[in-house]
Amino acid sequence: MQSRRDPVNDGSSSRQRLIGESPAFLRTMDAVSNIAPLEKPILVVGERGTGKEGVAERIHYLSGRWQGTFLKLNCAAISETLLESELFGHEPGAFTGATRAHQGRFERADGGTLFLDELAAASMLVQEKILRVIEYGEFERLGGSKTLIADIRLIAATNEDLPALAREGRFREDLLDRLAFDVITLPPLRCRREDIPVLAMHFAVRMASELGRELFAGFSDNALEQLLEHPWPGNVRELKNVVERAVYRCADPEAEVEDIVFDPFDSPWRPPVNRRSPDQGSDSHASAAPAPVAAKRPSLPLDFREHIQDYEIDLLQHALEENQYNQKRTAEQLGLSYHQLRGYLRKYPLLNRAEQD
Ligand SMILES: Nc1ncnc2c1ncn2[C@@H]1O[C@H](COP(=O)(O)OP(=O)(O)O)[C@@H](O)[C@H]1O
Ligand SMILES: [Mg+2]
Repeated sequence: MQSRRDPVNDGSSSRQRLIGESPAFLRTMDAVSNIAPLEKPILVVGERGTGKEGVAERIHYLSGRWQGTFLKLNCAAISETLLESELFGHEPGAFTGATRAHQGRFERADGGTLFLDELAAASMLVQEKILRVIEYGEFERLGGSKTLIADIRLIAATNEDLPALAREGRFREDLLDRLAFDVITLPPLRCRREDIPVLAMHFAVRMASELGRELFAGFSDNALEQLLEHPWPGNVRELKNVVERAVYRCADPEAEVEDIVFDPFDSPWRPPVNRRSPDQGSDSHASAAPAPVAAKRPSLPLDFREHIQDYEIDLLQHALEENQYNQKRTAEQLGLSYHQLRGYLRKYPLLNRAEQD
């Protein structure tokens, strides 16, 4: 049997090693080590790809809860109802498609750490419920009346300015106060250029070994200079992609990597921008399923592929729930063949869920 992996966890539960030697990075790591043992909620702030998730994991493993569960959930990846039910769980009949009871993350991470990514995307109602868990450890499943107790350390991440959102009334001040006991702000890569060569080397060596190459000949001076000068709006995630692409495209494993392609879409045949009109698809399908990801369009920079995946997972999940996890009907409703749907359910570990839930 397949091990149970989580549909909205990205599956990368293995511990990441955070690499860097710049003063800004080392100072941040010191702050992480200091805060980790405290039983306080933490807010990790940083642009996309700066390593917020890695930091959250590090905090967990440096804390007294390291043997407990570390669960994560991206609040921007799923619709509001799904977010509530993923966090707090639900009882049968709580909403259409909720045929059985479902344990939420707060229950499942009991005794461990829960990492909420892109917290700013959570609605005010969800924020209120999260605050209650932080303050009193209490919550109810959706559609349930029994109060449950969770022993959880919460780590939240955002790439938004939460105090500004709070001033605009879009984020709860009280939750912000609770989370802001201490805030770890990760420096963008362009502010710690010393880390670029070390990280580039790390990702390149790993890629070369994944490709079965015995050695990595290094970067040419010109390539290294380009890496050092790029502004890296997508930070370490972007650097990783650029380096991996450069290594795999360099056909001769004994030659230094010379060509760096920052934008893989760059092509003389790139199709022109084709913008949708703003009201397209809005009220013409009043009864159609909501498009939660479009409604909560995340801020840039972002990882394009990761977001497309999150969107696909969200749609699949929604269709499965609407069809009581009947895969044949779900496939029909999505215009997929049964085998195509099975392919998706395997690709994202939704299969167990679809078969057991
Ligand atoms: N200091 C670092 N050392 C090694 N890898 C890193 C570091 N920071 C980020 N990464 C890698 O970059 C990618 C993005 O990191 P992640 O923690 O998901 O960023 P964020 O959550 O801020 O968007 C991941 O593949 C992660 O392993
Ligand atoms: Mg992230």
